[in-house]
This record gives sequence, C-alpha cells and structure tokens, in this order.
Amino acid sequence: MSLTEPSYLTAPFTRTDFGTDFRWGTATAAYQIEGATTTHGRGPSIWDSFAKRRGKIKNGHHAEQACEHYCRYEGDLELVQQLGFGEYRFSISWSRLLPNGIGNINQEGVDFYHRIIDKCLSLNIEPWITLYHWDLPQALQNRGGWKNRAIVDWFTEYTDLCTREYGSKVKNWLILNEPMAVAALGYTTGQHAPGQRGLHNFLPVVHHLALCQAAGGRAVRRNVPDAFVGTTFSCSSIEPFTASQRDSRAARRVDALMNRLFIEPCLGLGYPTDAFPFLKKTNQYMLPGDEEKLRFDFDFVGLQNYFRVIVRHSYLRPVLWASEVKSTTRPRTAMDWEIAPEGMYAILKQFGRYPGIKQIIISENGAAFPDELREGQVHDPARIDFFSKYLQNLLRAKREGVNVKGYFVWSLLDNFEWAEGYDARFGLVHVDYATQQRTVKSSGRWFANFLRN
Ligand code: NOJ
Repeated sequence: MSLTEPSYLTAPFTRTDFGTDFRWGTATAAYQIEGATTTHGRGPSIWDSFAKRRGKIKNGHHAEQACEHYCRYEGDLELVQQLGFGEYRFSISWSRLLPNGIGNINQEGVDFYHRIIDKCLSLNIEPWITLYHWDLPQALQNRGGWKNRAIVDWFTEYTDLCTREYGSKVKNWLILNEPMAVAALGYTTGQHAPGQRGLHNFLPVVHHLALCQAAGGRAVRRNVPDAFVGTTFSCSSIEPFTASQRDSRAARRVDALMNRLFIEPCLGLGYPTDAFPFLKKTNQYMLPGDEEKLRFDFDFVGLQNYFRVIVRHSYLRPVLWASEVKSTTRPRTAMDWEIAPEGMYAILKQFGRYPGIKQIIISENGAAFPDELREGQVHDPARIDFFSKYLQNLLRAKREGVNVKGYFVWSLLDNFEWAEGYDARFGLVHVDYATQQRTVKSSGRWFANFLRN
C-alpha cells in the first residue's frame, strides 16, 4: 500500500475521536468464505443441501470453494493486520466440529480453528468467535432443526465443546448471528436454508432460538470465566410512512418484530406483545420456567445495521398488516438496500435506551457495490462514502452518551452472499474467484489510512 494517499482517502474524523478503547475489526462467517465443504471430515450443513436445490441461489452458485479460506487463512489474516484492524470476528462451522451435529468430534475441524486463533494471536489480532452463523448441521435439520426444542441440548453440547476447546485463548464470544433471519428467511419465507415456508414455523423457531441465545450465554460463562460474551441482532430504524395512526401502529409492529423480538425476552421483558399481539401465541411453546430460561445478562449486544425501513399499513399482508415503502430519492446498494446513515444513529439511540444493555458493539456494517477490478485496482468511492457517513452517525450517538465500544466491517473479503451468491460484493478486499487473487480495494486503503492515523 502506498504511503502518499490521495485526498479521497482522508476521513472526516480521526480514530481518537472514537476513544482509545474503541475496538475496530472486520467480520466473516465460516460458510461464506471457507470452502472445503466436503473434505477434511466436515459433515454437510443445511446450506450445502439448500445450494443444491434448483433456483435457490442466484446463478446456481454454491460455496464448495468460496474464498478457499480453509487453506488461505494465513494470508487472509495477514490482510486483517495490514488493514490496521485489531479485532477479527469469524464463525465456527458446527458441522466441521461435529459432522453429525452431536456426538463424534472431527479432530481435523477442531485443529483448523486452533490454527486460525493461533494465527490471529501471533499477529496481535483479538479473535471473536460467533458460534452460530446459519450453517446448521444437516443431520440436525433431519430431526427438525430449529423447530425441535431438543436443539437447546444440541446447541449446548456444541457450545460446551467450542468453549472448552478454545476458551483459554479466546475471550470474545457471540452466541447467535441475526436470529431473526433464521426464523424469517430460513423457516417462514424459505429464501434461506433450510428453505421451509409457513407462518406456523415462525414462533416455535423464534422461541427455540431465544432459548439457545440464553443457554449459549450460560455455557460460555461456565467454561470461560473471563469471557466477554454477547449475541447479535439485525436491526433497522423503522419509520412510519405518514403520521397517521394506522401507519404508526404498523411501524410499531414491524419494530417489535425486527428490533425487539430477541433482546426483550433476554432482558426479562418478555416478547413484545404490546406492539404486536400476534406474538402472544408464543405461549403455546412456553414450558414452565421458560421465562427465566430466556434471560441472560450479556456483557454486550452486537448490532448489525445496514438500512432503514419505511412502513405503511397494508390490507394485503395479513397478520403484520404492514408493507414496506421504498424511498425513490435515496441511493441504494447492490442489495437494493437504501443507504440511510442516520438510521445508524437512530438505532443506536433506540438500543441505548434499554437500561439492561451494558455495552453495544456494531458487529456488522457495510455495503455491496458492483466493484470491478481494473488494471489491478478496485476503486470504490461509494463504499468509502458509505463508511464515512455511517461512522459519523455512530460518533454522534456515542457523543450523546450511547455506550458503543466497537465496530466491525462486513466484510474482510468479497464472499458467498447466501441466496445472492457471489454477485453481491461486500469486501474491503476484492476476490477474483477464478484465480483466488485478493486485491485491497480503495475502501480497504481508506480504513488502513484512518486506523493508522
Ligand atoms: C448479515 C449476515 O450476518 C451476513 O452473513 C451477511 O453476509 C451480511 N449481513 C450482508 O447481507
């Protein structure tokens, strides 16, 4: 990387504005980068099966190679360091450790994550482990997956294994990645693995995820006494289309679903039935003692924010009675997500109001754009602009007293973007999938420049 940086690489704030204890990192997930899905003893996951179904992933893409991170991890972690980040968030593939989900352990898989952790530590990078980033072992899906309450025991066994194995080296733990996406996209609309559809799946899956969120936290505490433990939520600021009562109520229902559903039971507030009475039906899945089991005192919550959502009342969508209104005036990313930096401020303020939340980490934020490699360079000013504006909004919330203490870019590398396949590129580092060549984008240099100063 050159030392004389062009002016567009200069940030409108400095690293010290965020405080010397603010943690800067990049994030990835096992299924999106590792490849080696059928080798080294790994068992199949629901995403392997889903990717084989026709029409489920754009262009028929699959993740058998992905970024070949399984064998290229050393170079990739060196990139984290070159970009100036001190933290690296990655996930463990459950079926690489336990090919059948429970029972037999695959030692090769266990060793792989030791190598990742050791490499991070040798580079002075703090590892952050996400336990569940969507790749459930297929063997457990065959027994009902997240619909089966037995998953609380399965997940506890897996978490026990991970924390006993890596807990002496890794202090930062995240239990679930965006549970809402699992329940909504995986089991209700079927856009994600395991591709199940039907509203009847939604509440049992939500309840089992919420139980695992807390049970996972307890397992980490048991085995890693000095752990810093959190979990992540997808979240978006929700705005009513008009000031009418109907639109405002619709916005409150969507907010209950998208922002409150998993944090409130965990804080002992129960499911947010006040705004969305449909959620009272979770009672059907509650056993005596569950309210207590849903609670866990996390050290931090991880917020993952990308866009804001504008909603209006709609008769066309029963149950939720709400639909999204797309703003036509704002720029959008390659995911068709509205760029709304002030949404970062709003959501931080909203979560900052819960007295039970001790600390917030932005565990993901980033944008996909149609990047092109030209003469060995990827020039992505739109992404730089995105980071710059979202970070200004983070800083504003922080200055107003929100206890936000870290920020992770999604993502280190371009990778397998689930149902979108490889077309949506989120990386600070471009990946040429034909050659597996890595190229740091201008946005990566912008970050390196900002973090260095
Ligand atoms: C949410 C997910 O955690 C991650 O896997 C995904 O790639 C990004 N956001 C972008 O959609």
